[in-house]
Order: sequence, then structure tokens, then C-alpha cells
Amino acid sequence: MRLLVTGGAGFIGSNFVHHVVSHTDHTVTVLDKLTYAGNRASLADLPGDRVDLVVGDIADAGVVDGLVAQADAVVHYAAESHNDNSLHDPRPFLDTNIIGTYTLLEAARRHGTRFHHISTDEVYGDLELDDPARFTEATPYNPSSPYSSTKAGSDLLVRAWVRSFGVAATISNCSNNYGPYQHVEKFIPRQITNVIRGIRPKLYGAGENVRDWIHADDHSSAVLTILEKGVIGQTYLIGADGEKNNKDVIELILTLMGQPRDAYDHVTDRAGHDLRYAIDSTRLRTELGWTPQYSDFEAGLAATIDWYRANEPWWAPTKDTTEAFYATKGQ
Ligand code: NAD
Ligand code: DAU
Repeated sequence: MRLLVTGGAGFIGSNFVHHVVSHTDHTVTVLDKLTYAGNRASLADLPGDRVDLVVGDIADAGVVDGLVAQADAVVHYAAESHNDNSLHDPRPFLDTNIIGTYTLLEAARRHGTRFHHISTDEVYGDLELDDPARFTEATPYNPSSPYSSTKAGSDLLVRAWVRSFGVAATISNCSNNYGPYQHVEKFIPRQITNVIRGIRPKLYGAGENVRDWIHADDHSSAVLTILEKGVIGQTYLIGADGEKNNKDVIELILTLMGQPRDAYDHVTDRAGHDLRYAIDSTRLRTELGWTPQYSDFEAGLAATIDWYRANEPWWAPTKDTTEAFYATKGQ
């Protein structure tokens, strides 16, 4: 297959491209705007005869149409992805997550191209800490932030283009990813690179908020499974039973990096901060036979720490700007 991967120079998109190159014979064209979050270097070690990068905007109908016409399938990762940025300036989230998705869907409709939409568990809002329930494909949408509401909007566009126009699309909603190539604005790489730089890690509020962690490589294998076996029109939740609160994660990072486990600061909490996410991925596991491979979070985190230690030239150019932004927010 010839895949068009939008956002393939970002964190999860680049992990997916690496996964596709090592596990399939597919060729990949990446369409990426190379915003502050995109990094050409994340694709640098991949073979040129399997992967090419087109720098462009998914909201640019001219660019999108030609690329979708040539593809057997579109895997749509491109998005503005950071909640904190969306609270500061929501507009790019509407432009990329809503208009960009619309532009891709129209091209897929014109050319009859298979479409897989990457989304998030945040569309479902949050759960109480003691709620035995987890999110399922039947959970009502209830997003909290400008980021998650634009992702929810994009999911609904995909559903409408399936039903009204017969676009051959699937959707997946995944929990929090960790692994290599993640921008230092996000929780885990921010704390790892803080420790490397001698800055104290920063925990929002009391740190009781729970995220359901999955390794990015497991997300990639799930997306390939859905591309190969997924039922058109269906939504699949992706998760690996990795619930942890932020306080425990920050203390584990400090311990794994040889620091006192309490050597961090409590900082201003995020506005509207979702309390807990938790995924029930029964449909994906039972109907499509997917299982995650990274069951040991501590081992996966240790490998991620090693990656950031070994790849400082990859992240160093963005570190100071990121911390300067957080400083203006008291975070
Ligand atoms: P990221 O911010 O690391 O990467 C996003 C990529 O999209 C960047 O390379 C950026 O340059 C590109 N991009 C942004 N706007 C674009 C535009 N208008 N046109 C073309 N390219 C554009 O994000 P990520 O964490 O890798 O997330 C990727 C996708 O996965 C998003 O759709 C996100 O909602 C979803 N998701 C993320 C997580 C997570 O834990 N990070 C979990 C579930 C779902
Ligand atoms: O659940 C999936 C979502 O996971 C994706 O849709 C988003 O694209 C992705 O960014 C992520 O969203 P979160 O807001 O959960 O991730 P973030 O890394 O920003 O924060 C994780 C948790 O850590 C959250 O509860 C806020 C907290 N946090 C974050 C930062 C950056 C801190 O305590 N300190 C920090 O410095």
C-alpha cells in the first residue's frame, strides 16, 4: 500500500512511520506543515525509497487533493495537540483540527480513498478517581478544552462523511502516549529534560490526575491492525491498562534518574484540568485481535529516559522556548 500519513513528523506520526517501515512493505508519504511540533529529524534515519516528506498544510485543498489522489489510504495524525497551548490561543486548533480534517475528508470523498482518523480519549471528558467505569465506544462526548473539543468536532465530521457521503473511514481514540520523539512541552519529556538540565520537575496542582499511559509503538500496531482489519464506519478505543497518577509518574522519573523522589515543584494547575482518563479497549482486542507489547511501564519509561539522554541535539533547540512559555503561566 501507499500510505499518506499526515503529521508524520510529529511525535506519534513519526513513531508510526518507523513502525510501518519495520513491519510492512508499505511506502509512506508524510504531509506535515513542520509547525513548532514537527521535526524533520524524527524521520532522518528512514530509507528514502520508502518514505518521503511533503511540507504543507492539511487545510490547503490544492496540496491535499493531489496527495490523497495518489494514496491507497490516508492515516490522519496531523493536529494541534497540546491542551496548554489551546488554553492560550485556541485559533490554530480550529484551523488545523477542524478545517484541516474537513479538507482531507473532502479529498478522500472525491477520490474514494480509505481514511483512518487518529483521535483521543479526551473527547469523552473525564472520570472520577473512584469511578469503576472506563471509557468505551458508547461513552457520550463531553470534551473540556479547546483542544479536545476540536478533536471531538473532527471525529463527528468523519462520522458524518461516512454516513452521508460513503467515505470509507475508521476512527481510533487513544489514551496518553509516551516514548521517543515526543516534544518537550508534554509531561513526561518535560520532566526528563528538566532533570537532565538541572531544572526541578513541575507538577500541576496536587498531581492526583490520572492518565492511562500507552507506549507509542503499541499505538502504532493498533492503528495498523485497524487499517488492515477494521470495519468501515467503526470507532475503536486504544489503551493498554496503564492508569497512573501524575505524582507517581514524576516520582518514578526522578527515582529512575537517580534523584530524590521529592525533588520537584508543585506549580499552577491547568484550567479545567481533566481528572482521570481510562480506556476499555475490549472491542479492539476481541474483534480485531490486537494486544499491546509494552506491559511494563517502568521499563518503557527507563528506555524513554535513555532515548532523551542520547538524543539531546533532537530536543535541545526547543527546550528554552518551551520553558519560557511555561514561566509566563506560573508553570
Ligand atoms: P504532535 O504535536 O507531536 O505532532 C503533530 C504534527 O502535526 C506535527 O508534526 C505538526 O507539524 C503537524 N501539523 C500540525 N498542524 C498541521 C497542519 N495544519 N498541516 C500539516 N501538519 C500539521 O502531536 P502528537 O502527540 O504526535 O499527536 C498526533 C495525533 O494523535 C493528534 O491527532 C492527537 O490528537 C492524537 N493523539 C495524541 C495522543 C498523545 O498522547 N500525544 C493521544 C491520543 C491521540
Ligand atoms: O489523553 C490523550 C491526550 O494526551 C492527547 O490527546 C493529547 O494530545 C496529549 O497531549 C495528552 O494530553 P494531556 O493533557 O493528558 O498531556 P500532557 O502531557 O500535557 O499532561 C499530562 C498530565 O500531566 C496532565 O494531567 C497535566 C500534567 N502536567 C503536564 C505538564 C506539561 C503536569 O503535571 N506538569 C507539566 O509540566
